[in-house]
Amino acid sequence: MKFDTPATTNPIDRGRVVGVAHDRIDGPAKVAGTAPYAYERHDAAPQAAYGWIVGSAIAKGKIDAMDLRAAQSAPGVLAIVTHQNAGPLGKGARNTAHLLGGPIIEHYDQAVALVIADSFENARDAARLLRIDYSPEKGRYDLAAERGHATVPKEGFGGPADTAAGNFEAGFARAAVKVDQSYTTPDQSHAMMEPHATTAAWDGDRLTLWTSNQMVAWAVEDMAATLKIPKDKIRVVTPYIGGGFGGKLFLRADALLAALGARAAGRPVKVALARPQIPNNTTHRAATIQRIRIGADRDGIIGAIGHEVWSGDLPGGGPEVAAQQTRLLYRGTDRLTAHRLAELDLPEANAMRAPGEAVGLLALEIAMDELAEATGVDPVELRIRNDVQYDPEAGPQRPFSSRKFVECLRQGAERFGWERRVPQPGRVRDGRWLVGMGMAAAFRNNLVAKSGARVGIDGRGHVVVETDMTDIGTGSYTILAQTAAEMLGVPIEAVTVRLGDSLFPKSAGSGGQFGANSATAGLYAACVALREKLAAKAGFPANEAVFEDGLVRLGNQSQPIGALAGEEGMWAEDRIEFGKLTQDYAQATFGAHFCEVGVDIDTAEVRVRRMGGAFAAGRILNPKSARSQVIGAMTMGVGAALMEELHVDKRFGFFVNHDMAEYLVPVHADIPEQDVLFLDELDDKSSPMKAKGVGELGICGAGAAVANAIYNATGIRLRDYPLTIDKLL
Ligand code: MOS
Repeated sequence: MKFDTPATTNPIDRGRVVGVAHDRIDGPAKVAGTAPYAYERHDAAPQAAYGWIVGSAIAKGKIDAMDLRAAQSAPGVLAIVTHQNAGPLGKGARNTAHLLGGPIIEHYDQAVALVIADSFENARDAARLLRIDYSPEKGRYDLAAERGHATVPKEGFGGPADTAAGNFEAGFARAAVKVDQSYTTPDQSHAMMEPHATTAAWDGDRLTLWTSNQMVAWAVEDMAATLKIPKDKIRVVTPYIGGGFGGKLFLRADALLAALGARAAGRPVKVALARPQIPNNTTHRAATIQRIRIGADRDGIIGAIGHEVWSGDLPGGGPEVAAQQTRLLYRGTDRLTAHRLAELDLPEANAMRAPGEAVGLLALEIAMDELAEATGVDPVELRIRNDVQYDPEAGPQRPFSSRKFVECLRQGAERFGWERRVPQPGRVRDGRWLVGMGMAAAFRNNLVAKSGARVGIDGRGHVVVETDMTDIGTGSYTILAQTAAEMLGVPIEAVTVRLGDSLFPKSAGSGGQFGANSATAGLYAACVALREKLAAKAGFPANEAVFEDGLVRLGNQSQPIGALAGEEGMWAEDRIEFGKLTQDYAQATFGAHFCEVGVDIDTAEVRVRRMGGAFAAGRILNPKSARSQVIGAMTMGVGAALMEELHVDKRFGFFVNHDMAEYLVPVHADIPEQDVLFLDELDDKSSPMKAKGVGELGICGAGAAVANAIYNATGIRLRDYPLTIDKLL
């Protein structure tokens, strides 16, 4: 099904199952421990041996010699894989550095060997006996120092590196009120609960990977390219995933080395990254330096807005596209955005939840708070005044598909009690706490991606959905079951959803908050095809047939759909493909974050006291799982504001704090009440589901609301994240 004209009324609009707050149907299996994760496929690979990845001890240079003898003769060791015996390897299109390094070393903790043994402990112990001689070379590890060598990156998923409209320099020069500030955000780690893990098994020349990966089709493609074998020899199975946040978008070393290890050992091999290996071996979100200039009149109306971003990555990598939201969020005729990329020899930078906007808004929304203060306009009112209902770079001919930003600001402010905020900083005390309120805009692009599914019905009217879509803890199982139930007129209990298997139709996968809308739209297309088959069998015109209560009806005639499917059952498969509505309309999700903090008058300890947000993201497919996405993302925003930072050792080129004791993320005790409001909105340009994504929207701007609340509490304007105590004292 091609989606290139706005959606009309369709069965989803009935809202009997879709739009209802269903519990996650995968919840009981996960809570009871019966959901098999990649490292726990004892059922599928009972004889699996254990692999331990050895990472490079240098960040840049080469391996001169590897002495494997002591490790090879250690107890239980079955095989050792290195670049010397792995055979010729390619590289997946989506990997920047090689997943198995050597002799050239591209980054610290790049995998250089896999030790396979009969037990996890034997593999780990033997790994310590490897002797590797390196010749280190001087690397570049300091973004600020390399900023001057940064170049224009090639166009990537975030669009062109630079955009402009009007004449920014002239417009900014003549503005009555100016903000011109620089902000920094640090390297960050995804810190998902389940580490990267894979169990691999060969059957002749066929490889099966039980792995933890957000994007099944990408994993197949990149594994085929790396092993130089045909894609149809590879099966990827990833039904349960313990979080990803973008860290599992791409094939990683656990998967490649499990495959190589299983080949070397002649039996299945399982490999998990130990927690301390994750920050340096896998990807991270790159640090940024951002300069923002906003020129406005005395009423706060923006005439000129400019956002320049510097980030770094390995040679061949890409930028952190932190100016993305500045292209679309606020009015102004004179505009400029630019991304510059410096080569660094740190581990590979790549996407983390809301790549671009998550850190772009950390900066932009402090700048807006600074503009509010400079003009004396209330921060909520300032954003309302600068709303724009079309793409401000392209002009009115490119409207937003839907944009309820102002409604989010107004309703969010009212629910939060924003009118009680005292504009002058440092005026509110509660015992030993200085108390302040802050707010920020939420914005995230609404990406869509083609997505397929098949749907079947058996003789008893039970429905099965199959797609390679993944559920990374987001609720995919549930919203897909809701979609099929709504389309076919059966209760949600009559639907079984099978996910995360490359034998199933290719889906959008879980990334860029495009998964929910795209994957349900793909299933919608498959359900339309199945409805046509069922209606034809019943002898009803498909466009007049009504599916409800397990029946297909026409007037007062009806037939049970199970009986129509018959003993053999009936299947249909289709996919959704998105056409020019994505070019004709700017598509994005919107919101407003509010936060109240307390700052200890003596220690400068910051405690978040209240958070609230209002969001507009099309049809909310399941208000319960959507709320869970948003409160989790708001929590991650608190982490970005107050805690999260990978510390770079600029001498040796690695992230020093590489475990959950030193890479701090918020815990329950750090997070108070979070109030989430979803506005009623149907977006007929986004898909037949009229939905958008919410998985990333909640992090976008949340941290800036915290920063602005700290300013309101203390009068101290911090521009370098995370906003730790030492910077407040
Ligand atoms: Mo997201 S960073 O595309 O998982």
